[in-house]
Amino acid sequence: MIICLCHAISSSKLEKLKEEGCESLRQLQKQCSAGSSCGSCVADLKRALKEKDCCRGQAQDDA
Ligand code: FES
Repeated sequence: MIICLCHAISSSKLEKLKEEGCESLRQLQKQCSAGSSCGSCVADLKRALKEKDCCRGQAQDDA
């Protein structure tokens, strides 16, 4: 699934960037420009950054 249309950033690409250490929107924008054009994906990017395995549909609730 594509999260950022402007920069063609898919959920799997985002997951890979997270594994490589991207933890914030600013880091994401630096790495791949996601969320830096129209901005309509920013809320989805922020949500995806907070979620573990956001793109695999495996919510991990250890609490
Ligand atoms: S959809 Fe991500 S910046 Fe436009």
